[in-house]
Amino acid sequence: MVQINGNYLKLKAGYLFPEIARRVKAFAEAQPEAQLIRLGIGDVTEPLPAACREAMKTAIDAMGTREGFHGYGPEQGYLWLREAIAQHDFQSRGCAISAEEIFVSDGSKCDSSNILDILGPDNRIAVTDPVYPVYVDSNVMAGRTGEADASGQYGGLTYLPISAENGFNAPLPQQPVDLIYLCFPNNPTGAVASRAQLQQWVDYARAHNALILFDAAYEAFIQDPELPHSIYEIEGARECAIEFRSFSKNAGFTGTRCAITAVPRGLMGTSAEGESAELWALWNRRQSTKFNGVSYIVQRGAEAVYSAEGQAQVKALVTFYMENAAIIRRELSAAGLQVYGGEQAPYVWLKTPEGMDSWGFFDHLLNSAHVVGTPGSGFGAAGEGYFRLSAFNSRDNVEEAMARIARGSLAPAAAGAAA
Ligand code: MLT
Repeated sequence: MVQINGNYLKLKAGYLFPEIARRVKAFAEAQPEAQLIRLGIGDVTEPLPAACREAMKTAIDAMGTREGFHGYGPEQGYLWLREAIAQHDFQSRGCAISAEEIFVSDGSKCDSSNILDILGPDNRIAVTDPVYPVYVDSNVMAGRTGEADASGQYGGLTYLPISAENGFNAPLPQQPVDLIYLCFPNNPTGAVASRAQLQQWVDYARAHNALILFDAAYEAFIQDPELPHSIYEIEGARECAIEFRSFSKNAGFTGTRCAITAVPRGLMGTSAEGESAELWALWNRRQSTKFNGVSYIVQRGAEAVYSAEGQAQVKALVTFYMENAAIIRRELSAAGLQVYGGEQAPYVWLKTPEGMDSWGFFDHLLNSAHVVGTPGSGFGAAGEGYFRLSAFNSRDNVEEAMARIARGSLAPAAAGAAA
């Protein structure tokens, strides 16, 4: 009989978002007349920017001609896109990242998992708690953790708790770690890191020869001009960090698929045998072997994000979602809930009402308001007692969801059957 990867059996139930989808499907089947509003998974709803659509149409037409046809592209991405990314996303902010150091991919979820291919099995890993579940689950799948305990925390991982008490800023690890996952603006809490805070992480990583895996998928939502958008704005980061970015949330590419991984030249690691190697060369080798690149059409669409029209349209999308976030914050606060995030990020993180746990509040909102959110405990044990609402939806839906929540009682007695 075929042998399976037994590490998968260590995983808790389903991946968070499919698990939510399963519960919502069961609810919708039981109550088909309910008009559900989904503020759970952070999936964009607004149409693709016109500049991107036009560029993709032109690319499709080109593909229909002998001269303009493109077969396999470079696994790293077309140079014209890598140059536009390096210039607009990095060099314009003073980050010395070159086109060569940019790898174009089909998603930062994929890349933040795939990066484990080039990293050894004995790395000591730190994640925040709560955390984007992909960082943890991909390590479990790759056999880099022990079993989960009763709280859902996996043996072998160093969890750095983030909560209202520490302002959602993770403490530096108390025990040595080699790999640190950071996400700013943060999914799920919506928290951000100042330059000084990121400098502490970079200093820590350099002092301990650790690698930071920096997820900047939500950088476009930063409103405060003082806040860094890239880890490479921080001195020394080229020596200790890989950054992931995405066109999913700023330009609405969740279904179109295009993302960025920046791997600086000269960033080194060491094998178990003590041989040192450049991570760029390993990632380049990995991508050339396992990946055939993002389609020409989509890369042309992504390139259009950097045109003057594209920049204005993306800005308008970000502004729209951030107005949603402001409405969610305002209405939930008025309903008496303690809210966090949602000011520099498209996620509002709230404290569940007294007496209701995260899944209890999920069921309560689903049953009483027909609104779908994400239970904080799904992001980690320390997310228990919190709940995430996404600002990615139409204005009508966001306003309607808030009106329903305002009409419904948030008192524990109204919680209904908790899961
Ligand atoms: C989320 O809701 O956390 C995101 O949509 C997940 C993702 O981007 O993969």
